[in-house]
Amino acid sequence: MRVKSTDLTSLFEKALLDVPQNELEQIGVVVQTGDGICHVYGLNKAVYGGLVDFENGNRGIIFDLTEDSVAIFVLYKNIPVAEGEVVRKVEGVFEAPVGEELLGRVINAIGAPLDGLDPLKTKETRAVEVLPASIIEREKVNEPLETGIISVDALVPIGKVQRELIIGNRNTGKTAMAIDTILNQKGKGVYCIYVSIGQRQAKLARIIKTLEEHDALDYTVVVSADSSESVLNQYLAPYVGCSIGEHFMYNGKDALVVYDDLSNHAIAYREMSLLMRRSPGREAYPGDVFFLHARLLERSGKLLKGGSLTALPIVQIQADDITAYIPTNLISITDGQIFLDTRLFKKGNRPAVNVELSVSRVGGAAQTPAVKMLSKSLRLELAQYNELLNFAQFGTELDEISQKIIERGHVAVEVLKQAQYETYTFVDEVLLLFLLQKNFLDKVELKQVQVFVTQFISYVQSVYSQEYKKIEKDAAIDDAMNKQLKTIATEFRKIFVPA
Ligand SMILES: Nc1ncnc2c1ncn2[C@@H]1O[C@H](COP(=O)(O)OP(=O)(O)O)[C@@H](O)[C@H]1O
Ligand SMILES: [Mg+2]
Repeated sequence: MRVKSTDLTSLFEKALLDVPQNELEQIGVVVQTGDGICHVYGLNKAVYGGLVDFENGNRGIIFDLTEDSVAIFVLYKNIPVAEGEVVRKVEGVFEAPVGEELLGRVINAIGAPLDGLDPLKTKETRAVEVLPASIIEREKVNEPLETGIISVDALVPIGKVQRELIIGNRNTGKTAMAIDTILNQKGKGVYCIYVSIGQRQAKLARIIKTLEEHDALDYTVVVSADSSESVLNQYLAPYVGCSIGEHFMYNGKDALVVYDDLSNHAIAYREMSLLMRRSPGREAYPGDVFFLHARLLERSGKLLKGGSLTALPIVQIQADDITAYIPTNLISITDGQIFLDTRLFKKGNRPAVNVELSVSRVGGAAQTPAVKMLSKSLRLELAQYNELLNFAQFGTELDEISQKIIERGHVAVEVLKQAQYETYTFVDEVLLLFLLQKNFLDKVELKQVQVFVTQFISYVQSVYSQEYKKIEKDAAIDDAMNKQLKTIATEFRKIFVPA
């Protein structure tokens, strides 16, 4: 006898009459699976972002709801999902482990340790997608986040809570800048979270080693979804990192989160969207890719009752094109950007901050007063310098004033050079800017400028430690200190021995 499928359906329907309706609505059956995504029939009470458990032990998150099926991405790559498998809705949403127990640990996006150490001892979890703090709960930017990188602290200062984008081609020192900023938070009470998205494993291993060697892992959490992980994990990683940081913020702590990088994040989401057969838009990204990053970055903030979350998202561009889709979105979401320039990097001007294309929309309000005072005119001077430099390339004869600007610019560029892993305290930065602004470097040979300034810092630190400490305490320079620094610099210039 041939059984028609409609007969079967009605038979099933009859058999299920006794089962309470709401229980039936909570389960479904996998009808199609592959590439980390599966389509499930049933689950009538499904909600976007909801969690489900699979019969064979996998777990998934609901991403798409259509009239007759639900699209689910699975969390565990190595647990197979079969067609016909039963799926059950789970209460709650996807949560990440949070808390100080995570410091020093490397975890993946689903909260499993990757460092081969003991299981996590965290006691709390936090939803990875939550609404940001309301405006009423928030405090304005009034404290600097010191990067220890003079070109940033002087020219594109970052305030606590700020979202400052680091943008540039590959190999321009984007990761290096973020890592140096983390290294500089040592002893400053800022907890750091480094989120690695879609990078190669070897690169991440090097970064973890760097953090370890500089004792920075003690106050840092690493969340990693490398390029070998599922697109879902790469998609989740920044939200997980954000929740970890947010937990610190709501507990009155200052936290800094680095997203390295959001280009890879957008690519992972694009792949997910294509798998869900959503219609692709510009550059094949789905229409909601703006919201993807907006809702992540608006969770940075500073609370009235203390606690802050600062974000350094990184975006990689191609052939200097900052007008591509994802970079322009991110530029409009963030409070400014640091543009790292291949041309400058190749010339040896590292960190390769392009001053004209970099901006900080709020950080100036939080800049340390002494640094602010001494770097006020620097931006303009560098802009004039760069303009004249372009001009001079054509062999144009320059007048005396222009020549002076170029000479001073050359010196400034030297002062702003800084090796990787070598961060300055703000007092060091004050001393450097002082030498530059008060023309103490004018007669120093260009290739001796770095030697001069670093030796000067050591000199003040050892011979004039009282003055060094006073600047540290005051965070400003009064007339008396101004005079004193002039005397010290004059004295040092006499005893300086070029290397
Ligand atoms: N300030 C610097 N001085 C010298 N070398 C640097 C500096 N910043 C980065 N580098 C080097 O440049 C290379 C690329 O840096 P990286 O941060 O990985 O670039 P990106 O993240 O932009 O691709 C690395 O080998 C790094 O060590
Ligand atoms: Mg990088």
